[in-house]
Amino acid sequence: MALLREPLLAAARSDRLRRLTERSALTRPVVNRFIAGSSEDDALRTTAELVGDGLSVTLDFLGEDTTSVEQAAETVRAYRSVLAALASAGLAASAEVSVKLSAIGQALPGDGEKIALEGARQICQAAAAAGTTVTCDMEDHTTTDSTLAIVAELRADFPWVGAVLQAYLKRTEGDCRDLSGPGSRIRLCKGAYAEPESVAFTGTAVDESYRRCLRVLFAGQGYPMVASHDPNMIAAARSLVAQHDRAPDSYEFQMLYGIRPTEQRALAAAGNRMRVYVPDGEEWYGYFMRRLAERPANLAFFLRSLATKK
Ligand code: FDA
Repeated sequence: MALLREPLLAAARSDRLRRLTERSALTRPVVNRFIAGSSEDDALRTTAELVGDGLSVTLDFLGEDTTSVEQAAETVRAYRSVLAALASAGLAASAEVSVKLSAIGQALPGDGEKIALEGARQICQAAAAAGTTVTCDMEDHTTTDSTLAIVAELRADFPWVGAVLQAYLKRTEGDCRDLSGPGSRIRLCKGAYAEPESVAFTGTAVDESYRRCLRVLFAGQGYPMVASHDPNMIAAARSLVAQHDRAPDSYEFQMLYGIRPTEQRALAAAGNRMRVYVPDGEEWYGYFMRRLAERPANLAFFLRSLATKK
């Protein structure tokens, strides 16, 4: 089944398949397991439900590979609007936002990086006004330097801006060392893109890297955000919490919406801060395909739904 990972990640980048899948009503019920919905109201309703269950939330307005300045500006506007809505609904203390810089123009030719930085600044201003935080997602390895540079610029004015680091990249242990200083919010995940072996570990070496990165982050002075569904990674983090005598408000666990929901609630009930990453919006295709590529059971579930709903 690991053989399917590459074709699925290639499919995640296919415009033709994107159009076909997005139009198919058959796929919708399966998609709904992983995506909160397409509107701001859907995002707020899901957030309120999760917060009611004792969970925290990070909202991602889905979009990537933005191809125009107007599209980037529209995404920034959507983020500002949802942040204001979270504040009005009294949810901002428990819900922040996650932003893919490619959705706000990072890959646009010429001034892309500048456009993304300016858009991210506006989102951070809206988050500050709402009383919450922003975390910048990490995309494929060609964007890592640019994303970390933008995060560094943002942190000069908004020191609470978080970054994502991917344990599958060989560089990441070093990045964890550089970014484990006071107040540094680092979301550590395994990594979800198809990367060349020149830059990325594969197989069990990814887990070994994840453990090394966890050790660096928990020994540091920052705020580690343990983003994994893997029971072994969660156990490793819990033993580091005990070893470093970390207070419950000095780290958190994070999982994706729809994945291991019972375990999410169990971790919260045990006194941990548990944040759920909630994707919302029309452009769910790339996100959804990466979730299929991660787990054979998701693909089987998806194919079964196509077979039974005809
Ligand atoms: P792993 O894939 O080894 O899974 C371990 C176990 O978890 C599985 O055996 C299964 O039980 C369960 N599981 C995992 N994935 C599942 C799925 N899709 N469906 C059902 N069960 C599943 N990546 C990235 O490159 N950039 C980013 O910015 C982010 N951001 C991000 C935020 C948050 C909050 C999370 C939790 C994850 C990300 N990711 C990400 C995705 C991440 O890189 C990774 O692809 C997934 O989390 C899967 O890796 P695990 O650590 O869960 O382990």
